[in-house]
Amino acid sequence: MKFRTLDDLPEVTGKVALVRVDLNLPMADGAVTDSSRIRAALPTIADLAAKGARVLLLAHFGRPRGARNSEQSLSMVVGALQTAIGREVMFVPEIAGEVVRQAVGILRAGDVALLENTRFWPGEEKNDPELARAIAANGDFYVNDAFSAAHRAHATTEGLAHLLPAYAGRSMAAELSALEKALGDPEKPVAAVVGGAKVSTKLDVLKHLVARVDHLIIGGGMANTFLAARGIDVGKSLCEHDLASTCEEIMAEADKAGCTVHLPYDVVVATEFAAHPSSLRACNVHEVAAAEMILDIGAPAVEALGDVLKTCRTLVWNGPLGAFETPPFDAATVALAHTAAALTREGSLVSVAGGGDTVAALHHAGVADDFSYVSTAGGAFLEWMEGRELPGVKALAIGLA
Ligand code: 3PG
Repeated sequence: MKFRTLDDLPEVTGKVALVRVDLNLPMADGAVTDSSRIRAALPTIADLAAKGARVLLLAHFGRPRGARNSEQSLSMVVGALQTAIGREVMFVPEIAGEVVRQAVGILRAGDVALLENTRFWPGEEKNDPELARAIAANGDFYVNDAFSAAHRAHATTEGLAHLLPAYAGRSMAAELSALEKALGDPEKPVAAVVGGAKVSTKLDVLKHLVARVDHLIIGGGMANTFLAARGIDVGKSLCEHDLASTCEEIMAEADKAGCTVHLPYDVVVATEFAAHPSSLRACNVHEVAAAEMILDIGAPAVEALGDVLKTCRTLVWNGPLGAFETPPFDAATVALAHTAAALTREGSLVSVAGGGDTVAALHHAGVADDFSYVSTAGGAFLEWMEGRELPGVKALAIGLA
């Protein structure tokens, strides 16, 4: 797919850019706790402002289900946005109509305004063409810089692209190019690391990946379900026993496609889930006692997985290998992340990671900056790993016809 980017913009001095960004930020006590998504939007905002556009930012926050409420007003984000951009940001408590028109009248070339939470209007999530037209009426062109919301076919993520000249923002363009390198047209061999608690949430991801990657490394609670499907007693481990036959099918598909599935052969177990429990021990997967649960992959198995990565040219990673928030069950994730980061630094691996937990784990390991690309997307990254077409992305491509 090809997209127009900001490099394709005509002269835009004084023109109004409607820019969809993702400001669905983690907050605590009214303060932003992680501003990665603000940082991701900065290159687009700075570029448009430098080009002299009047920038109207559109974003959602939370799931207010079509009604206004003060706890989910984007006015809360204005301070953090101003600090990051380094200039004043006007807040407009509407997304369409006269109030926005008047605000546009006040803005000068290069000024930035943030409109209210788009999901306060029921038409946003319904992708109501009337709402999209009302929003579009105040703009000259549309920029989508919110890959992480592109799996939603909403008025501001999809509808607007059909009504105004549409462009991919800097962050969207970078994301799409990284994802293309990772799974679209990757250098082979390709490895995928898929971890996390439950197989049931990642079934489509696994089914899609086995046909596309050479090595599928399964970790986290998901690995327990696969081990159990192979007849291994996983004791008290988190495990979806009812998915045994699905796991077998996935392994059979992998076999047919020439994809090697890597499951841990040694693990770290404990009888209780707590930091540094006294019952902690490492053992072979065949030696897990009835009262024990698997909480991480063991060191020798992680080293073997590192050797697999050394033979690969591309890595896509979603989900931690163990219960990484609770030490020492972060050890496998941290160790494999270090190996991937070192291989990336050496230039032998293209490494792309995404998903909230994964990004947190890579930051925890101190290697997020060493990966080729780390996506701020959660649901959108997963849907992309499932091989689905994202409506927000597709709508940008259609604009080129
Ligand atoms: C996200 O946080 O993953 C995106 O902003 C999408 O949010 P949603 O899952 O509420 O649509």
